[in-house]
Amino acid sequence: MENTLAPAIILFGSPGSGKGTQAKLLRRCLNAPHISTGDMLRAHISAGDEVGRQSQQLLRAGKLVSDELVNELVRERLLEPDARSGILLDGYPRTLNQAQALLRLTVEDGFRPIVVHLGVDYAKTVARLSGRRQCPVCGTLYSLKTNPPKVQDVCDLDGTALITREDDREAVIRERLREYDSLTLPILKFFREAGVPMIEVNAGEESPEQIRQRICQGLAELGVAGAIEAVSPGSAVR
Ligand code: AP5
Ligand code: MG
Repeated sequence: MENTLAPAIILFGSPGSGKGTQAKLLRRCLNAPHISTGDMLRAHISAGDEVGRQSQQLLRAGKLVSDELVNELVRERLLEPDARSGILLDGYPRTLNQAQALLRLTVEDGFRPIVVHLGVDYAKTVARLSGRRQCPVCGTLYSLKTNPPKVQDVCDLDGTALITREDDREAVIRERLREYDSLTLPILKFFREAGVPMIEVNAGEESPEQIRQRICQGLAELGVAGAIEAVSPGSAVR
């Protein structure tokens, strides 16, 4: 049955687990803006503003930026009108402090939090991230191994030269995984104890589209409106 509270979907997983890939695909079954704290921080770094100056060295080293800074970025983003019908969070929360701040916000603003946990073996994520390329204009993600662009280093959609993220060097990937293990993974227990529904997805074996279908199915079972329509018989989106 449909639940009328606006969903706050939390895409949760290690670096390289496919959060950004799934956020883009989930547009097919969710009417909620994609809010990626990593993308927001990179936009500030490109703009060269104060938030960018405070974050740049930390991103480069694979370390988390401060809770105060990201909590404030997300709090402000949730005030924008497009967030009223639901949100799709990618890379937030990442610490216990952030998880507590988010749960407070969801209660105050009448959102219904749902965690989607993308589980992937770390050996796989290191291989994936080393081969990741992204279009700086439209954000399309490529994988040199499983989803390469038709023309080397050029976006299929708009012809822009693809970029490699600065933190996708192996030593930095390993540091990001260490941060994930020590600071982020433990907050799954906090969500469980808080009674937040959790969709567990094995995101290491199947194609992005197959994983997208599993997530939509899980969301539909939890009564998330757009997802129900997307997986119901006769729907154009399957
Ligand atoms: P962020 O940008 O969030 O990076 P991340 O968590 O390290 O995750 P990634 O973006 O690297 O991976 P992803 O899970 O999105 O995978 P993707 O879909 O690209 O954060 C970057 C930094 O910002 C942090 O290190 C920190 O400094 C800072 N930061 C951000 N948020 C913060 C916060 N809340 N608090 C503090 N600091 C914060 O996929 C990866 C590759 O795999 C792609 O090539 C893709 O094509 C491929 N792929 C995806 N799915 C599949 C599949 N099923 N099969 C095969 N290949 C696949
Ligand atoms: Mg990402």
